This record gives sequence, C-alpha cells and structure tokens, in this order.
Amino acid sequence: MSEFVDVTVNDGIQLIRINRADKKNALTQDMYAVLADSLNNAEENSDIRVTVITGVADSFTSGNDLVDFLQNPAQGEDRPVVRFLFALANIKKPLIAAVNGLAVGVGTTMLLHCDLVYASTEAKLSLPFVNLALVPEAASSLLLPKMLGHQRASELLLLGDNFSPEKAKEFGIVNDVVAPEQLEETALNTAAKLAAKAPEALRLSKALLKNDSEEVLKQMRAEFEIFSSRLTSAEAREAMTAFMEKRAPDFKQFN
Ligand code: COA
Repeated sequence: MSEFVDVTVNDGIQLIRINRADKKNALTQDMYAVLADSLNNAEENSDIRVTVITGVADSFTSGNDLVDFLQNPAQGEDRPVVRFLFALANIKKPLIAAVNGLAVGVGTTMLLHCDLVYASTEAKLSLPFVNLALVPEAASSLLLPKMLGHQRASELLLLGDNFSPEKAKEFGIVNDVVAPEQLEETALNTAAKLAAKAPEALRLSKALLKNDSEEVLKQMRAEFEIFSSRLTSAEAREAMTAFMEKRAPDFKQFN
C-alpha cells in the first residue's frame, strides 16, 4: 500500500487520486503497485464499472520518481511500474483520465491507454524521455506515430518540450479541455454515463476498439529492455544527477 494514492469506490466508479503534492505527484514503486492493483482488482469487482484517475494540487503526475530511477534502476517484469503498464494495456473496463495539471512522462503516456481523457486548461504535458537520456515507454513509441504520424510523434518524443492541453486535443490525446473547477465533475459525469451502460457490451466494445493489444504489449517489452539498460547508462546518470543538483545536464562529454 502507499499513503500517496487514494482509492475510493462510489456508485460503480473507482476514483484513483495520486496524492503526493510536495513531489508533484511523482510515482514511486509503492505508488505504482497501488495503481496496478486498483486497475486489476476492478476487473474482478462487479461494484466497479469504470475507473477515473486524477491527481491532487497542481499535478496529475510528474512521472516516475527520479530518485527511485537512480537508486533502483532494475526494471524486471515483476516490478510494480511494469505491472501498471501491462494493466493499462490489458484492462477490459473503461478508464478515464482527468488531467488536472503537470503530466510528465508516464503522466502523458498513460493517457494513450485511457478510453476518455479530459484535461484542465492548467494541464501541461511533456514526454522528456530523451532529455533524461532514456527512451519512450508504455508503447508510446508505437502508439504516438500511429496516432500522429512520424513527424509529430518525433516532435513530442525527441524534443520533449512541454505542450498545451489544446495541442493535446488537436493531436487526439485529449477529448476535451475544461476549466479546472469543472474537470472532476466532467470526468465523473462521463464515468457515471458509462457506469450505467450494459457492462458486457461496454467491455466487448472496448476490446474491439483496442484490437492491437498484442502489438502494444510486444512494443512495451521491447521498450523495457532498452529503457532498463539506459537507466544505468552514464548519460542517464548525468541527466538525473543534474535534476537532483538543480542544474542543466551536460551531454558534451558523450558521443
Ligand atoms: N521525481 C522526483 N522528485 C520530483 C519529480 C520526479 N519526477 N518531480 C518533481 N519532483 C520534486 C522536486 O525534486 C522538488 O523536490 P524538493 O522540493 O525536495 O526540491 C519538488 O518535487 C517540486 O518540484 P520542482 O522542480 O521544485 O517544481 P517545478 O514546478 O519547478 O517543476 C517539474 C515541476 C515537474 C516540471 C519538475 O520538477 C521536473 O521536471 N520534474 C522531473 C520530471 C521528470 O523528468 N519525470 C520523469 C519523466 S520519465
């Protein structure tokens, strides 16, 4: 369990709230374990029809905890982060994201697996894997080029700059951008609509919409392999140490 993820169930809706405000909701392995278990347990629990995921304060999540990356670089398939990403690809019940603020790294890649995504006008998305000397994960290296074409996917994945929720909507990553005070209500109202529908029809329809899950899992595994070796690379150590030391990384020494 983790004190930094709150999970509640009401009227068929499981609400997962990432709650580690002082670290911009950065995700540790304990937090990923709760996320993975919540998604997987919902599959067996007939009281849960839909899951909504959101964050507290000004962040959805700032992505993987970088201290955790440095201290525990191992990425075996039994690791909670891997269980979470597989759950995203495998779950049959609908998942809705309410992106309330910063959505960095996995904060953005997890959206590619959600069925509906609402973002606040305050949201700020980014995929800074290369900036951290890492490579894309969560099958984003497959899903983004499919959705956007090579050039726009490269803009997001190679440059790694922040992009706005409006741009995310234009790119098809986000369904709608709403005022911050309307975000949770919008997500929960939509979840309530789905929760009232015939559950088996909903699951079968989602499965038809996501008929590429074998390919997605294969790409996730290919990414994990490279990602894991990158975590212990000198380039990545420089990038993460620079973050910790609050300075820009210096990659001039590498070729
Ligand atoms: N891992 C660990 N700690 C993180 C973190 C992360 N992913 N994101 C933020 N934090 C911590 C900061 O170290 C800081 O801790 P401190 O108060 O003990 O110094 C605290 O959260 C607040 O972050 P700060 O950087 O001061 O806030 P900001 O508003 O200036 O910037 C971010 C917010 C998210 C843009 C910036 O923190 C950032 O770039 N974080 C790293 C994101 C990242 O690369 N994630 C991994 C993607 S694969």
